[in-house]
Amino acid sequence: VLEVITAEEAGFCFGVERAIEMVLEAAGENEEINVYTLGPLIHNPQVVEKLEDKNVKVASSLADIDSGIVIIRSHGVAPEVIEEAREKNLKIIDATCPFVKNAQKYAKQLVDEGYQTFIYGDGDHPEVHGIYGASDKKAIIIRDKEDLKSVELKSRIGFVAQTTKSPESFRDIISLVATKVKELKVFNTICNTTDVRQSSAKKLAEDVDIMFVIGGHNSANTTRLAEICTATNTPTYHIETAAEIDKKWLSGKNKVGITAGASTPDWLIREVVQLMNEENKEVNVESTENVEEKE
Ligand code: F3S
Repeated sequence: VLEVITAEEAGFCFGVERAIEMVLEAAGENEEINVYTLGPLIHNPQVVEKLEDKNVKVASSLADIDSGIVIIRSHGVAPEVIEEAREKNLKIIDATCPFVKNAQKYAKQLVDEGYQTFIYGDGDHPEVHGIYGASDKKAIIIRDKEDLKSVELKSRIGFVAQTTKSPESFRDIISLVATKVKELKVFNTICNTTDVRQSSAKKLAEDVDIMFVIGGHNSANTTRLAEICTATNTPTYHIETAAEIDKKWLSGKNKVGITAGASTPDWLIREVVQLMNEENKEVNVESTENVEEKE
């Protein structure tokens, strides 16, 4: 019989859950009006599909929206995007995660206070575009230590980080500059959700025979969770839905671990747990049959 354990921390984070609730509320109250999210709300195709069923469409830019409601997703956007939406007379629902909002606010504050401002993050990520925009496009984005080497440091510098960066890597970057400048102001804008989830996934993977990591193949945080679990040497499968599970994978396994990315809804997690329970029932039926045969 399979023992199924779900990681203590798995699935939707606070910011994503909040954004989805805001979208569903907007869609429920405004059936006659077009509701758009600016970019897919989250990196989970099943959720995006569900929202489409509720008539929430995905617009890749404001140019695709003529009227109605535009929802800013949890990653946030640059202030100029909000401005443009206002000029187009769109109703704006801002579902930017409050932690991301903080990173935006502090980047602006550092620039306003005259610090040479750095954003430690991935310049291709929409969250970083938003933080950069909030800094009046004055901050310098650095992806890693290498990027930092090419910058001439001023005497007063300030730092914020993309919310999903790892605390260790941020500490490394900060320790590199700490003794090279006269003044250093650091806002720790890392959201601990990512870290807590990663350590809880690792702990679980070490304790089970097989791990399922549920979440969009296009979700960076789910992919990272799968990498972390794989590194424990426990066979790990990154799946989007229960339908992807090949029952052969379970052969000879006793303990199954389940975790999920921050953009994975509970119902996708439940489907996998349910499949495991059904598998258990089948095993029970088979073993009862064997007993009867023997008798
Ligand atoms: Fe917000 Fe942290 Fe989620 S920054 S969107 S709660 S991962």
